[in-house]
Amino acid sequence: MTKREQWSSKTGFILAAAGSAVGLGNIWKFPYIAGENGGAAFLFIYLICILAIGLPILNVEILLGRETQKNPVGAFKAIHGDNSNWKYVGALGVFASFTILSFYSIVGGWSVAYTIEALKGTFASFPNPEVAGEFFNLKNSNPYWVLGYHTIFFLSIIGIILSGVKGGLEKASKFLMPVLLLILFALVVNGLMLPDSDKGMEFLFSPDWSKINPSTFLLALGHAFFTLSLGMGAMMTYGSYLSDNDDIVNASYMVAFLDTVIAILAGVAIFTVVFSSGYDPTAGPGLVFHVLPPLLAQLPGGYIFAFLFFLLLTIAAVTSGISILEVSVSYLVDELKFSRKKATMIMGALVYLAAIPCALSFNLLSDATIPIQGKAFTFFDVADFLASNILLPLGGFFIAIFAGYVWSIDSTVKALLKGNSESLYFGNSILNSSTSKTIFGLLIKYLSPVLIFLVFLYQFGWI
Ligand code: PFF
Repeated sequence: MTKREQWSSKTGFILAAAGSAVGLGNIWKFPYIAGENGGAAFLFIYLICILAIGLPILNVEILLGRETQKNPVGAFKAIHGDNSNWKYVGALGVFASFTILSFYSIVGGWSVAYTIEALKGTFASFPNPEVAGEFFNLKNSNPYWVLGYHTIFFLSIIGIILSGVKGGLEKASKFLMPVLLLILFALVVNGLMLPDSDKGMEFLFSPDWSKINPSTFLLALGHAFFTLSLGMGAMMTYGSYLSDNDDIVNASYMVAFLDTVIAILAGVAIFTVVFSSGYDPTAGPGLVFHVLPPLLAQLPGGYIFAFLFFLLLTIAAVTSGISILEVSVSYLVDELKFSRKKATMIMGALVYLAAIPCALSFNLLSDATIPIQGKAFTFFDVADFLASNILLPLGGFFIAIFAGYVWSIDSTVKALLKGNSESLYFGNSILNSSTSKTIFGLLIKYLSPVLIFLVFLYQFGWI
């Protein structure tokens, strides 16, 4: 049997895991969700969700991978036996990886397309976001355009995965993540130097508590799962390429910290531009593809900033996309003993096909909708809703129950401490204290499952 590949260094793992976490969720979703839901008030609730629920579950997911050296299905089987029903939680993750990538790679394709349009200088000819919106809709009305860019994006993911853990996933993240940070830094500095940038900052950082209601929690929790790549075994899979003495707790801090800071910086980069141009900040998902292109292009140096922004979006999408597909690929490699090449080709082809209805949601299948929560949802909307609002929180719920009760919180904490001889939960040497073990136990055993459960009840109108 060939030996399981591992990350070449801890930094390699952190960058790959942060690459998974930092994605379209940070740049395409977070700013408009925060914008529409009370700015800093939303940020506050979101941070609580990250700290109290996201971070502990992140630790547990990486741990389950590291302990078992397996994909999500294999991980549950390794701990709880081949016949255990827990393997279906892993299978749910494999299913979620299909669902997410089917809409994610469409947005990834748009990002590639817009990077090229930025290079061509297209955005300079848009007088305002309305015209940019018409351009976006016109392009999307052509199925070949959507499918073509989706294919380019998808092939880049497949290419990286084919090159393996060290040579593909790690190498790509080690190169792309620093580039992403540099670009983001340039965009933030540019934004802060614009006139009226303080209005953008105020919008993001001054709280509007009147916008907070129970559904804000649902959004914040769902987004915390999505943004930290939790609930479907992506972090478990990445954790399975760690060795026993790698420190999970500190790595989790780093990943959650980078992810949160990058989402906030993306908000700063975007809202400073939007406000300095006097535009509506709550423009919804269209913010990035309708509102920003003309506003960026009209700035001094706009050609380069528009290009940088869409390159940033593409990089973020690629480093996350690879982690999503890796879940399904590792499943085939571990469970069915396929070679990496065969597994990538088969899963790649299947996920690619699953994404086609999402690509056609903007043209041929735009009328094929089903009503969800009073709105007409296309295939694309259904995939997004199903993944972000149902599959990921459900996966997170079961993972918390598994770690807290089935595997037992004591075994979980003991295993967590294994690689952490001196650095522990809540900082160095702290998880070892009985207080922080208790806090960790409370978060995993009670708070996470109860909150996720309440969110479900609320979502289906049962409370
Ligand atoms: N965390 C990614 C983002 O914020 O865009 C999305 C994601 C990646 C979700 C991997 C789930 C996953 F397993």
